[in-house]
Amino acid sequence: MSKLLALVTLAIAANSVAAVGPWGQCGGLNYSGSTQCDAGLNCVKLNDWYSQCQPGQNQPTTPAPTTSVPTTPIPTPTTPTTTSNPAPTGTGWVPVPSASANGLQDKLYKRGKHYFGACADPNTLNIASNVAVLQREFGQVTPENSMKWDAVERTFHRILHNFRELMYVDIDAASRGQFSFGNADTLVNWATSNGKLIRGHTLVWHSQLPGWVNNISDRATLTTVIQNHIQTVAGRYAGKLLDQILAWDVCNEIFEENGTLRNSVFNRVLGESFVTIAFQAARKADPTAVLYINDYNLDSVNSKVNGMVSLVNRVNQANPNTIDGIGTQMHLQAGMGSTSQAVLTALAAANVKEIAVTELDIVGAPSNDYTQVVRACLNTPKCVGITVWGVSDANSWRSSSTPLLFDRSYNPKAAYTAIANIL
Ligand SMILES: *[C@@H]1O[C@H](CO)[C@@H](O)[C@H](O)[C@H]1NC(C)=O
Ligand SMILES: *[C@@H]1O[C@H](CO)[C@@H](O)[C@H](O)[C@H]1NC(C)=O
Ligand SMILES: *[C@@H]1O[C@H](CO)[C@@H](O)[C@H](O)[C@H]1NC(C)=O
Repeated sequence: MSKLLALVTLAIAANSVAAVGPWGQCGGLNYSGSTQCDAGLNCVKLNDWYSQCQPGQNQPTTPAPTTSVPTTPIPTPTTPTTTSNPAPTGTGWVPVPSASANGLQDKLYKRGKHYFGACADPNTLNIASNVAVLQREFGQVTPENSMKWDAVERTFHRILHNFRELMYVDIDAASRGQFSFGNADTLVNWATSNGKLIRGHTLVWHSQLPGWVNNISDRATLTTVIQNHIQTVAGRYAGKLLDQILAWDVCNEIFEENGTLRNSVFNRVLGESFVTIAFQAARKADPTAVLYINDYNLDSVNSKVNGMVSLVNRVNQANPNTIDGIGTQMHLQAGMGSTSQAVLTALAAANVKEIAVTELDIVGAPSNDYTQVVRACLNTPKCVGITVWGVSDANSWRSSSTPLLFDRSYNPKAAYTAIANIL
């Protein structure tokens, strides 16, 4: 649920053959950019699809040398003695995210959860105050838009618009099998070099979907298209450095409000089988990622919650360990925090390893609602983490309802302090 991407964007013409800076891409299958790194950097192959310019000699898989990033894999966290909550029962090994002491990440982690995260993308990673809050407070990022289908498998033609500007024109119809990962790579490289976990978002969604996918009408073609899309996108980041693609939202928003499957191209052509097709493709592409089904309006124990739990149980009974987790977005109105515990309890009763709050924002940011949601996660052993849908109200997809924890000047709001006080 986010702003649509602009279909036409302008960019200042860039230097075409410059060497690549730190953490930039310098090689990989189908990569056509420069393979020369700036002085002092080595081009290190991370996988078949991706080589990266990294500082230093003979350290082929060491992450960015910031003081706070772990340089070796760290074992599963033990539950600190100060916590009254059990460690999450979901995933096993998870790298310890890097963030400041006494920030939200640090506090929630000490209560036995994996992460307190926020969405991000290159448009907000360009803002220094935003980046400072992300580095300090949050241990996980979700790409707001850059990994959605129409952002990665859609063709933009470069046209010289005038002497200084390139224009990128969308040519949707021809985009099958043509991938571009510029913004997604920027997000992943930022997260990796700052020691943040990543929730990949999202592989199969009816919205922000190129028209050519919507036009497919036969089972074999749509199956191949889903499998190829997932293999290319999830496969690209599999095993990335510290395995920081922690989880993928494999299927997003696939339910109607009454709990039946949404009328999407995926359901029309493949019926419920598209869910298993997508999850199996994701498992193959990235065997270590935790695979989630994610949705909105799971905010009271309603028909949609019941439909979600039934489908997950059905899929996992037919093919055990297909769906690992359920994400509830939690784009809430004021007052709706009061039902969050009942919802997390209902979702955790499904046959899944873990659940998460994946896109939290609350109209007006009432402290009481925010603390109710945080307490609900603390009280639910399967709840592994909380992600807010942005840092500052300035960059929220529903900015005018001021739903986030930081104001337009990136200062913490009352809800931030309330959460910090209960953690
Ligand atoms: C990558 O290049 C190979 C040939 O080198 C081609 O067969 C394949 O379709 C390309 N893949 C993408 C995603 O463009
Ligand atoms: C989808 O199909 C319609 C009807 O055949 C056609 O007009 C349109 O161009 C197609 N769109 C794409 C993106 O292929
Ligand atoms: C569920 O809701 C959808 C969308 O409103 C509707 O088309 C469908 O008929 C409903 N199904 C049931 C069983 O009520």
